[in-house]
Formats: sequence, structure tokens, C-alpha cells
Amino acid sequence: MREYKHLLLANKAWAAELKEERPDYFERQVAGQHPEFLWIGCSDSRVAAGQLTNTPPGGMFIHRNVANLVNDDDINLMSVLEYAVTVLKVRHIIICGHYGCGGIAAALAGNATGYVGQWLRTAEQVLHNHQDEIDALPEGQRANRLVELNVRDQLVRLAQTSVIQNAFAAGQTLYLHGWVYDLRDGLIKPMMEIDAETPLDEVPRPQPVLV
Ligand code: CO
Repeated sequence: MREYKHLLLANKAWAAELKEERPDYFERQVAGQHPEFLWIGCSDSRVAAGQLTNTPPGGMFIHRNVANLVNDDDINLMSVLEYAVTVLKVRHIIICGHYGCGGIAAALAGNATGYVGQWLRTAEQVLHNHQDEIDALPEGQRANRLVELNVRDQLVRLAQTSVIQNAFAAGQTLYLHGWVYDLRDGLIKPMMEIDAETPLDEVPRPQPVLV
């Protein structure tokens, strides 16, 4: 059978099972969404936000891109962010990177071309910001440390956006979390947190969790 047909069959089974367990499940879904979390993660197929946090549909608003980068001129990310914060009023925003990230490895190697090459300039900027620390590490440890530093820098960039600054100024309950997911054991390592009181010009580099 063609692979895509498996997706459709699996979908039928999923819907039937849910309806059997909770006959009103889909009626409740239609009523609206009230997620408490916005997840900004990598597009990597192995980092499935909902599944690895056991979050059911409706629990998490999600934006994913290559290497979980934040740019305030990215209208895709910014519209997701604006809607999540001003309309859905999520209370937590998580930027989750992951060890073994191909995007970060490519930024480190400086060998990406085409659209990916253009996209990864933000990640190359992270490398530039922390060049001394990265250069001082053995070669085999550089990519995963850059993953951690990338989460830190993207979280600061997120905090600096007008959407977040306005929410903080208005006293909205909002916490920003920097996490890294480890493909090898399936566990998330929390690295840092930013709230309205955090001075953004002195956010420290996170302690290396895995190098
Ligand atoms: Co990745």
C-alpha cells in the first residue's frame, strides 16, 4: 500500500477511537481552543511537540521552523505570536531546541545553500555572538553547545519583540522558557526562563547541560 494511505487509515482509527472514548470529543473541539502554551520548536520530524509532552489536541499552539529561530520580520512567526499572546492569552511560551539539530550543525559548518542557507543566517549570528566559547570546545561538542546557546539567544530575541514587551508592560501573566530536547533519552532539559522582571541586557548564557 502506498505510504500516504496509511496516514488516512490511521486517521480514521484515531477519530473512531476518540469518539468511542468520549462521544462529545469533537463537539468540544468545535467549541474553541484555549491553549495555555505556545511552542516554538524545530521542524525536525523527531521533535513532535504534542507527543513528547503528552499534550492533547487543544493544549498547545504551535509554530515550528528550521532550528527554532525568532525573527521579528518573519510574518509567519510574528502572526502566530501575536495571536497566541493577544487573543489566546497563553501563559507560557516555550522555545525548544534539540541536540543533534541539523540546522544548527549546518550553521556551524557554514555549508547550507539555497533557502536554508538564507534562513540559517540568524543561527550563524548566534555562532558569531558566542564564537569564543564555541571555538574553545572540542570539535565534537560544538554543535550541541550551539543548540543551547541558540535557545538562549532566540529566547532573548523573543522577549524583545513588541508583542512580548507590550504584554509585559500590560502586566499580562506570561513566562518565556528555553528548553532543549534530547533525542537520545526523550527528555527535555529546561535551560532558562524569562519573565517581565528579567533585565534582557544581562541574560546569562545557560549552564551547559550536555557537551
Ligand atoms: Co532541528
